[in-house]
Amino acid sequence: MGAKYKKYLAPQFPAGFTNTIYPHAGFSGLLLCCKSVDISCFNRYFSANDCLFFLFSFWTTEVTLRVLSGIQPSGRLHIGNFFGAIRQHLQLQAEHDCFYFIADYHALTGNPKPADVARYTLDVAMDYIALGLDTEKTVFWRQSDVPEVTELTWLLSCVTPMGLLQRCVSFKDKVAQGFSPNHGLFAYPVLQAADILIYKSDLVPVGADQKQHIEVTRDIAIRFNSNYGEIFTVPTEYIIESVAVIPGTDGRKMSKSYGNTIEIFEPQESVRKKIMRIVTDSTPIEEPKDPDKCNVFALLKLLASPQELAEWENRYRSGGTGYAQAKKRLAELMIDYFKPFRQKRAELEKNIDYIKEVLTKGAKRAKAIAAETLAQARKAVGLGA
Ligand code: ADP
Ligand code: TRP
Repeated sequence: MGAKYKKYLAPQFPAGFTNTIYPHAGFSGLLLCCKSVDISCFNRYFSANDCLFFLFSFWTTEVTLRVLSGIQPSGRLHIGNFFGAIRQHLQLQAEHDCFYFIADYHALTGNPKPADVARYTLDVAMDYIALGLDTEKTVFWRQSDVPEVTELTWLLSCVTPMGLLQRCVSFKDKVAQGFSPNHGLFAYPVLQAADILIYKSDLVPVGADQKQHIEVTRDIAIRFNSNYGEIFTVPTEYIIESVAVIPGTDGRKMSKSYGNTIEIFEPQESVRKKIMRIVTDSTPIEEPKDPDKCNVFALLKLLASPQELAEWENRYRSGGTGYAQAKKRLAELMIDYFKPFRQKRAELEKNIDYIKEVLTKGAKRAKAIAAETLAQARKAVGLGA
């Protein structure tokens, strides 16, 4: 499977460098390569860190990239999921070998009702397909249809220090939100590492909240490889900084568990109502407003054209425009953006057998790879000899 694709990064950065990929790095590398430009001229536009990335992007090689990501069926997908992760998942399909799955084992850590697990799994599948998942090319499956991943989780658990998991912020956050801290929730990052490593993934497109889990995955892969031999690829996260944290209607990170979401496919009237309820400050209409501190403006940035955004920025700064006007325009833009996908989503709802068939086909393709990696890992640790 898979053609050759341009790899944007040297496989490993020296310690201390962020592993976040800057999509412009390949292009800038080319620029620098073609003309030997003095990089100090970039300082006006890019940070020192960016410039270093430009330099690293010299080291590009032609390799096949395997992209993998998962999404939990723990509720209806929202625009934070879309702009923070799903849109990147779909864009990457054109150039890379993509593996996306519905993380139903992970969702069990929240002890959902069994009927909800089933319903949300189908919902996530329909959302992805309606939004443009290429069901022929991309491997798309339900995590629990490839149980090999749970056996690998155990092998990885045995090289995972407790301290590594105790430091995970998402565990601490969930406990603070009132989740009962079961062992599954604590071990969640090890299952996630198994998801990534079993498919020997290069690149993991996610939102900023998942960065630490990918770091844990790298740590586990390096430990396992150094104990037992080079079995696993050490992956890199793919996080686009400008959309790494999409705010919810209350200004916190949009999340299913905060009840502050705008769902991708919720009825249009409800989208309007939720947008009109987005929290803003109480600056009077006539006074200037700071767009950088406004949740409505943060969402307008995702949808408005650069010209329109510049106009809104100007209107905010000069005063005389109320937040309600910006909210009305945001609702229009949001509804228009997702309109073309609604029809397809409605058709898919009438054809659940097709959705199940796509997932079954995907699981078969995923399982073939997972079984092979698991066999290598079992042998490496001395099982079944
Ligand atoms: P939720 O927090 O709603 O339960 P998930 O944990 O299922 O969302 O996240 C699925 C994907 O969407 C992950 O890659 C996550 O990083 C990304 N994501 C979720 N919420 C946001 C957000 N508000 N901004 C950016 N990315 C997000
Ligand atoms: N933890 C991820 C989330 O909540 C979902 C997930 C599970 C995942 N396994 C993964 C993401 C592997 C990327 C790669 O969003």
